[in-house]
Amino acid sequence: MEDKVRIPKHVSIIMDGNGRWAEERGHERVYGHTHGVESVRACTEAAVEAGVSYLSLFAFSEENWGRPEDEVSTLMKLMFKSMVDELDTLMNNQVRFVVLGNRARLSDELNRAIDSLMDRTEANDRLTLIIFLSYSGKWDILQAAKAIALECGGDRERIEALDSADIASRLVTAGIPDPDLIIRTSGEQRISNYLLWQCAYSEFIFSPVLWPDFRKKEFFSALEEFAKRDRRYGKVK
Ligand code: IPE
Ligand code: IPE
Ligand code: MG
Repeated sequence: MEDKVRIPKHVSIIMDGNGRWAEERGHERVYGHTHGVESVRACTEAAVEAGVSYLSLFAFSEENWGRPEDEVSTLMKLMFKSMVDELDTLMNNQVRFVVLGNRARLSDELNRAIDSLMDRTEANDRLTLIIFLSYSGKWDILQAAKAIALECGGDRERIEALDSADIASRLVTAGIPDPDLIIRTSGEQRISNYLLWQCAYSEFIFSPVLWPDFRKKEFFSALEEFAKRDRRYGKVK
């Protein structure tokens, strides 16, 4: 990457297409999820190499709880296993690990593994890797709205004084810059209830590549495409 100025600070990926990748090979869907973990590792290393500060990955949506029980439980086991296995990769690359989402729906065992990995990587400062787990954009906005409602009570003056920063600071992403670039793999061109508030001025790249095949080369070519975009934020030059 020659032009350092054009490196996005925050890249976010909707990791889609694991099931189709497995089915194309005559395997069960979970086979695709297993291979998807290798793409997570590859993209994390690529983000570190490129000098990206935040890499966030949509791993499991609130809606994904509605999938067949065996797929959900295999995915949760895979998350648990990855959190145990990937500690060395995270430490070697100086990556801070963060999980955001509705953690009340996760098992105690998984929550303990998440807390442990977050604690152990807390001081790492080359890249922040955020995994969105049991997350949805509407859930995020709703929990922020509830927090504000409780804080304001019926105080009209406080309610009138609210601004968009008051919402942003109560979303689970408080303190994290909005994604500059959102990539969705597998050819689908939709947001699927992801970062609804935070994507206000994100650039989007829809890649036809299925997530298990999305590796460093694909990540770097997305960064090259991003570098060509003209971001105007509603203004004129
Ligand atoms: C993305 O792959 C992983 C999750 C949503 C958990 P999918 O499982 O959605 O794979 P496709 O889209 O059915 O191919
Ligand atoms: C979006 O993918 C959620 C994640 C990648 C975690 P889905 O496969 O769940 O989305 P839809 O159903 O195609 O919209
Ligand atoms: Mg999908």
